[in-house]
Amino acid sequence: MRIIEAKDYQDMSRKAAHILAAQVTLKPESVLGLATGSTPIGTYDCLAEWCKSGDLDFSKAATVNLDEYRGLDHDNDQSYYYFMNKHLYSRINIDPSRTHVPDGTQPDPAKESRRYEELIRSLGGVDIQLLGIGHDGHIGFNEPNSFFDGDTHCVDLTEMTIEANKRFFASADEVPRQAYTMGIGTIMRARKLLMIISGEDKADITAAALCGEVTPQVPASIIQFHPDVTVIADPAALSKVKR
Ligand code: GLP
Repeated sequence: MRIIEAKDYQDMSRKAAHILAAQVTLKPESVLGLATGSTPIGTYDCLAEWCKSGDLDFSKAATVNLDEYRGLDHDNDQSYYYFMNKHLYSRINIDPSRTHVPDGTQPDPAKESRRYEELIRSLGGVDIQLLGIGHDGHIGFNEPNSFFDGDTHCVDLTEMTIEANKRFFASADEVPRQAYTMGIGTIMRARKLLMIISGEDKADITAAALCGEVTPQVPASIIQFHPDVTVIADPAALSKVKR
């Protein structure tokens, strides 16, 4: 695992964007695994800027996102599809038909989960997966559990996640209670992982995930077992990591 200490949020965002940009430059038809949350917004801003200036070309790339709230459609402004469109897709020259997010409106969880896994396989797998981390150690929406979930599946969100994510909604009551998420197995099959972390509030979970025991109670700790992981974090997030 490579741990890169960035100077601050902006520096973390630029460094992560450079890695994603290099991936697309080296392999224009890359499949990029993308993430939502406030952490990747700065990274997406950089990619959009470099695409606008002509330095980056996404015309042959495809994207697959980690997760989506169950019950929300693409036009719902709280859906992760809407978020991705706002912060990235609409600002770069990607073919919209090659941008994929689990379909939150699908009523049959097993069917939608299977479809998403098959889609990723049919694209040839994920070349690089961008990850954030939740305060409870979740990646995607893989919440602390007694085992590592394998493939894409439907999850019940924990109270901690509902509480953390209510800032995007009018109230906690409006946060969906379930979501579709790539499983830990799906994430670990990506050829490369790129995790970005910012802020002091993530210091404890960063230390647990990067240096603690690998356990499904801290889902992000599984990345210690991936052969090609880069973590870019600011000094506050890394403050409890012993190096
Ligand atoms: C959500 C997403 C995760 C993300 C996490 C952290 O729950 N499902 O993929 O990593 O939030 O978000 P933030 O970057 O806002 O702290």
